[in-house]
Amino acid sequence: MKLHVISRDEVAAAVTMAQAIETVKKAFGQLSKGKASVPVRTQLGVPLHDGVTLFMPAYLEQTDELGMKMVSVFSGNMATGLPTINAMVILVDAQTGLPTAIIDGTYLTALRTGAASGVATDLLARKDASTVAVLGTGAQGRTQLQAVCTVRPIDKVFVFDAREAAALAFEKEMADSLGIDIEVTKNAADAIRDADVICTATTSSKPVFAHSDLSAGTHINAIGSFTPTMQELPPETVENALLIVDSREAVWAESGDLIIPRREGRISDESVHAEIGEIINAERPGRTDDDQITLFKSVGNAVQDVSVGARVLSEAIAKGLGTLVEL
Ligand SMILES: NC(=O)c1ccc[n+]([C@@H]2O[C@H](COP(=O)([O-])OP(=O)(O)OC[C@H]3O[C@@H](n4cnc5c(N)ncnc54)[C@H](O)[C@@H]3O)[C@@H](O)[C@H]2O)c1
Repeated sequence: MKLHVISRDEVAAAVTMAQAIETVKKAFGQLSKGKASVPVRTQLGVPLHDGVTLFMPAYLEQTDELGMKMVSVFSGNMATGLPTINAMVILVDAQTGLPTAIIDGTYLTALRTGAASGVATDLLARKDASTVAVLGTGAQGRTQLQAVCTVRPIDKVFVFDAREAAALAFEKEMADSLGIDIEVTKNAADAIRDADVICTATTSSKPVFAHSDLSAGTHINAIGSFTPTMQELPPETVENALLIVDSREAVWAESGDLIIPRREGRISDESVHAEIGEIINAERPGRTDDDQITLFKSVGNAVQDVSVGARVLSEAIAKGLGTLVEL
């Protein structure tokens, strides 16, 4: 049995952000049409080491793509200079069940998470959006910014991180690679005040900005909170924005951003306006006026990993990337 092994650099060389956005859009469309089998992921806690490993399988019926991501989030890694998130994606031939590829999932996670926000920004942000704020300048913050810049002509970026050194490193790296003016701010309020699009990509367990600092017409992508105790969004924002999610089932099971305000009696299941796939499939409307605050809450879904993984494999084969290994 032959298996393609595809490294991080090869993932980056195989698929552009624009291709990832196109791929994730198709995947979310299938998810919301009931054309994907995606059990809520298994989270295996490793409290002794302040970690959790998630097992995320998916089968996408229309594109006939099958696989699984194994992703670990170990918060203590930051102190030793290791990435918080480490992952791999395993692809399986949907016709035969034979494994076809092992792909570095760490960059792929950042790529597909950025791509989800790219899809949402494209569908929900004002057409004239030209400024963006990134709160949380880690691995995800980078691809959040790349994705927003792929779908809107951004000319100014504000960034804030609880660790100033992380924000400064982000500024240097991203200003060089994107050729855009990036300003590090002293606090979240200064970052979001003039932002047309906001991306929250932190590990926070309390809101990372104040609702009163938001401007009318802003679009928010919130991707950080993926457990019931993690929270990036002020409850007032969740209550008042047009709320779009990646998967109703998954966000209600996993995200403190929704679970906490529901427990406080501020929102209910009906507060979710749509899944992003329903907007993609034109089953629900998106933004209807320029003053609305739109909010995309994503906890991440295995359809993103498997579809982008499959795209990486096909592009890698076409470009002669990856290593063939006999099992
Ligand atoms: N929704 C998804 O699909 C998805 C995918 C991948 C990761 N995530 C989640 O996104 C979050 C970020 O991931 P990452 O890989 O970028 O982690 P990271 O550790 O590389 O970066 C997180 C950054 O957030 C900063 N931060 C923490 N609290 C803050 C606050 N209150 N205000 C401002 N900055 C703050 C930290 O200093 C750090 O720089 C994690 O919680 C991760 O689990 C979600």
